Amino acid sequence: MVVYDSAFGNTEQIAQAIGNGLGSQEDVEILQAGKVKPEQLTGLRLLIVGSPTQRFRPTGAIKNLLKGIPKNGLNGVKVAAFDTRFTQSDIDEIPVLPFFVRLFGARAYAAKPIAGGLKKKGGELVVPPEGFYVEGTEGPLQEGELERAADWAKEILGLID
Ligand SMILES: Cc1cc2nc3c(=O)[nH]c(=O)nc-3n(C[C@H](O)[C@H](O)[C@H](O)COP(=O)(O)O)c2cc1C
Repeated sequence: MVVYDSAFGNTEQIAQAIGNGLGSQEDVEILQAGKVKPEQLTGLRLLIVGSPTQRFRPTGAIKNLLKGIPKNGLNGVKVAAFDTRFTQSDIDEIPVLPFFVRLFGARAYAAKPIAGGLKKKGGELVVPPEGFYVEGTEGPLQEGELERAADWAKEILGLID
């Protein structure tokens, strides 16, 4: 299952590319976070969660979903996390943002806390948190990111068998 949130559609596109990279529609569900009940996440073979980075964090819908998963609810579930984010050249144009991005490192983006939340509920992280680049706030995605997302999904598939 691929669960995402998206304000402007870019993270949704990445989620679809990841889902398509994983397999056919019968095998893979791609769902918006607000439409998922935490109980649906238990017993999955693979759960991938992604969010736009907003003010260094995942969106409220993603945070609520992670919070709602019962203790040990992801035991035995392989997990991975991704986000979408500004490009470095966009970051460089926003006052003080480059400072915080350098200070926080990977923690300046949503994927790392998502991965932490999934692990906290018992999930087994199979790849490091990954980020995909959007141009400006509303996108479009940087060229090549949909292909990179599909490749990332295939890499994950190779690691969970
Ligand atoms: C309120 C707000 C805050 C944002 N903060 C950050 C940020 O801290 N770091 C970053 O890289 N991108 C930030 N962005 C850019 C988003 O990551 C970008 O809008 C998102 O990747 C687009 O994905 P979506 O179309 O799925 O919403 C922010 C965007 C918004 C709207």
